[in-house]
Amino acid sequence: ALLRADVVSIFPDYLAPLRLSLIGKAIDTGLVELGVHDLRTWTHDRHRTVDDTPYGGGAGMVMKPEPWGAALDAIVPAGSATTPRLVVPTPSGRRFTQAVAAELAAEQHLVFACGRYEGIDSRVMADAATRMRVDEISIGDYVLNGGEAAVLVMLEAVVRLVPGVIGNPESLTEESHAAEHDGLLEGPVYTKPTSWRGLDVPPVLLSGNHGAIAAWRRDQALERTRRVRPDLAPSPLDGVEGVVVGVA
Ligand code: ADE
Repeated sequence: ALLRADVVSIFPDYLAPLRLSLIGKAIDTGLVELGVHDLRTWTHDRHRTVDDTPYGGGAGMVMKPEPWGAALDAIVPAGSATTPRLVVPTPSGRRFTQAVAAELAAEQHLVFACGRYEGIDSRVMADAATRMRVDEISIGDYVLNGGEAAVLVMLEAVVRLVPGVIGNPESLTEESHAAEHDGLLEGPVYTKPTSWRGLDVPPVLLSGNHGAIAAWRRDQALERTRRVRPDLAPSPLDGVEGVVVGVA
């Protein structure tokens, strides 16, 4: 397999959708290998306890270090050939973007540690850092109950970038956020019929003039990006050469 991914969670069933659709097919064809593990496998008390109250006080519970340490030792044996990347989904991590998805897609082995409650005892990440590259990642500025949904999001974005997973790789460069399009959002798309409920397909798309179509699409992408994501829009002087502002 080009990519191996292991996910550790107290709700392994939450990861079942990974066996469906495009990711499922990548697993079935052997391009991607997926292991989903129940953290409670590595508990030894009769209640299979994974959490405890936080030192220093405060609301909520913190995930105990021992089950995590044993889980990561089992999944990443000492002296492994390659050092995996340990992805820890957390709202306090660096932001997940298309560029981060591309970084993760280039790895051979990803291990995802899904926290619940108020998070995982910080010593788990400190200890793992001695044999893995630890990457705490947030999928956005909102709070989920646990890392599982974030792993579904990240793996969906990552696996489609693994070579061979998507039949026509051109669809990767044409979509929103592709670097080849300066990170602009994709504009509107249309298919048959040419007229539907009184709404017509823009005539330029029926013109057969490929230069005019490309220019129109770029224009639509720019307009949409300025309107809904001004933070992503290029500055008006981008690409203009020879503009030198003198300093006295
Ligand atoms: N766990 C809880 N909230 C999260 C978020 N926004 N991103 C990633 N993991 C999380």
